[in-house]
Amino acid sequence: MVQNIPMVDLRSHFAPLRTEILEGIGQILDDSAFILGAQGRALESELSQYLGVAHGIGCASGTDALLLALRALDIGPGDEVIVPSFTFIATAEAVRYVGATPVFADVEPEYFCITAATVEPLLSPRTRAIIPVHLYGQAAPMDELLDLSQRHQLPIIEDMAQAIGARWQERRLGSLGTLSCVSFFPSKNLGGAGDGGMVFTQDDALAEKLRGLRNHGSWQTYHHDVLGYNSRLDEIQALILRKLFQRLDQYNAGRRRAAALYDQALAELPLQRPSRRVGAEHVFHQYTIQVQDRDGLRQKLQAQGIASGVYYPIPCHLQQAFADLPKVHCPQAEALKDRVLSLPMFPELQESQVARIAEVIAEHLRKS
Ligand SMILES: Cc1ncc(COP(=O)(O)O)c(C=O)c1O
Repeated sequence: MVQNIPMVDLRSHFAPLRTEILEGIGQILDDSAFILGAQGRALESELSQYLGVAHGIGCASGTDALLLALRALDIGPGDEVIVPSFTFIATAEAVRYVGATPVFADVEPEYFCITAATVEPLLSPRTRAIIPVHLYGQAAPMDELLDLSQRHQLPIIEDMAQAIGARWQERRLGSLGTLSCVSFFPSKNLGGAGDGGMVFTQDDALAEKLRGLRNHGSWQTYHHDVLGYNSRLDEIQALILRKLFQRLDQYNAGRRRAAALYDQALAELPLQRPSRRVGAEHVFHQYTIQVQDRDGLRQKLQAQGIASGVYYPIPCHLQQAFADLPKVHCPQAEALKDRVLSLPMFPELQESQVARIAEVIAEHLRKS
């Protein structure tokens, strides 16, 4: 019988670590220290060292990481923050949570990210920050965005929810902006067994601010200097993430290997394969093709038991949740929403599975 192919295979991913994780959880239950303990501190230190930044501050999700980063910069009502139109809603949601206004920039059709050219015309005296998203696991064009941010003295918050481990030139993403935010949502490249996130920064003062903000605005027990949040990464989650982190480079290499197999298998077909940006190392959170008749192809794959995903069917500026914001037009994002199709992608994806997916795609494209 032919096996179905899922988008991600978390069961296989966790299987080799199961015994180690269960032992570790047993130890945490014995110690009974569940929040803001040794595992969380160790993860913060390991990940910040890996990225080449001074501080990592764990929190409850990638969305909270963005919210905390904006709060740390004192961004609030009356302020504007530039975000991509073509991203997961959380990037823009966080801006609204602090009472500021997301201003949607269009993306480049080849790499799916904002650029200096799409951001610059949107700058206003109210602009307080720019949030590039390293979408699908590949860097936004950081040289030009950093240059823009320096010229206008605006902080960059990197949304690296989908790109942990990826590089821009010699540096890891997450070490380039004033702040950077990651998500540990289970399907992410470093995905835990639940929600989690982390904010990174080189700046000692911002790090100190973040440590209090995530803990009810408290830097000293039961002294609450500002309104903060209950947004902490618990010890069990941190333990699991530390086990996975030891293998992160291996996982990302597995994703790149799968991407290379797709590239080969799809080379002759009338579709657009993901482009590699010069100077960037991609970690393939998603392998996203662009194709006409995307929905027809998706149905065909589904009929053959092959999962696929559309990230994202509605750009942020067209979401109902933002219907009260001034209408904007982002032509590239509006075109991409009908063309993008993400294929199954996970470190354990087999060559035979890629071959089968490619065969189904080829058969469909030959007929249409
Ligand atoms: C680009 C991007 N930003 C932010 C988030 C939010 O992360 P979380 O789901 O951990 O809140 C996600 C993922 O879900 C994402 O893909």
